[in-house]
Amino acid sequence: MKALILVGGFGTRLRPLTLSVPKPLVEFANKPMILHQIEALKAVGVIEVVLAINYQPEVVMLNFLKEFEAKVGIKISCSQETEPLGTAGPLALARDKLIDGSGKPFFVLNSDVISEYPFKEMIEFHKAHGGEASIMVTKVDEPSKYGVVVMEESTGQVDKFVEKPKLFVGNKINAGIYLLNPSVLDRIELRPTSIEKEVFPKIAAEKKLYAMVLPGFWMDIGQPRDYITGLRLYLDSLRKKASTKLATGPHIVGNVLVHESAKIGEGCLIGPDVAIGPGCVVESGVRLSRCTVMRGVRVKKHACISSSIIGWHSTIGQWARVENMTILGEDVHVCDEIYSNGGVVLPHKEIKSSILKPEIVM
Ligand code: GDD
Ligand code: MG
Repeated sequence: MKALILVGGFGTRLRPLTLSVPKPLVEFANKPMILHQIEALKAVGVIEVVLAINYQPEVVMLNFLKEFEAKVGIKISCSQETEPLGTAGPLALARDKLIDGSGKPFFVLNSDVISEYPFKEMIEFHKAHGGEASIMVTKVDEPSKYGVVVMEESTGQVDKFVEKPKLFVGNKINAGIYLLNPSVLDRIELRPTSIEKEVFPKIAAEKKLYAMVLPGFWMDIGQPRDYITGLRLYLDSLRKKASTKLATGPHIVGNVLVHESAKIGEGCLIGPDVAIGPGCVVESGVRLSRCTVMRGVRVKKHACISSSIIGWHSTIGQWARVENMTILGEDVHVCDEIYSNGGVVLPHKEIKSSILKPEIVM
């Protein structure tokens, strides 16, 4: 089987992190976002993944993925657009890569969604209903910013697909995970076009679109607040699976990931919902909760970080307090005793005075 991952866009909502690294390569739970997807695809027998990219530097992506290709044993290629083709156009562009003559369906994923990727269940569901396309749906409280799906509960047959509805039509939304028969490609022209607005509504009208309610958690992690919530849900699911990846010890509360090469000092209190990346040094007496600390960060004595993301190779000074959706880009230095309340700081900055209310520091 093959798969295509839609990786368009500048990732503006995850700036300043995406100023250093293309969004799919930003680590989530100590692993580049896209690798969570690729590994899950590999696990159900996908042999080739096509990355549909437009703004991403192909060289950066390929260099990174080349090393990974061998490790996981999966072929990864890029299909580069010369203009953004939306969410359907890229499928037409990659047509030759997706069709292998076997007639088997292929996966399509939005690159910014995280879940347990129940692909195996999805393949079974797809086989059983015999329609042309399957999509995963999930329930959310605020459906208006997503694609809303109205379906027949018992069979999953989709009656209506409405992208970003202005009026309430339902609370089951498109999770951005599809399994499509090759015939769907015959419906898509090579031009900028939206799968949500132009393709799914038509297949639904012909009663050939089926939706499966996604078991487990789901989150679009394309913006900081959702990224932090997504980490909580992801770590919860590791806990439910009794994963041995979660840290243990007297200084750990709740669900925490600590990379094996990170060093944690005496008398720290870490958790819940924390990810500490490779090579990090957390000095003594530090308090961390609901945060991600990327590769190579140093957190000095008695600093306190909560609900924040600390970019690669940054340092947090002693007795500093960093909280409330503070997002530090790569190589930011927060001086001793500084307070940051929701500061969004661009790469390579030194923060010498406190940030008292949420603002962007350039
Ligand atoms: N290659 C390529 N080219 N990819 C693109 C382009 C493009 O021109 N435009 C968007 N994408 C990719 C994005 O990178 C993302 O992975 C995916 O297509 C969806 O685009 P978003 O911009 O993230 O859309 P959204 O979050 O507003 O809505 C989509 O996702 C929701 C779930 O998170 C829709 O699919 C909704 O129906 C869905 O509910
Ligand atoms: Mg999105």
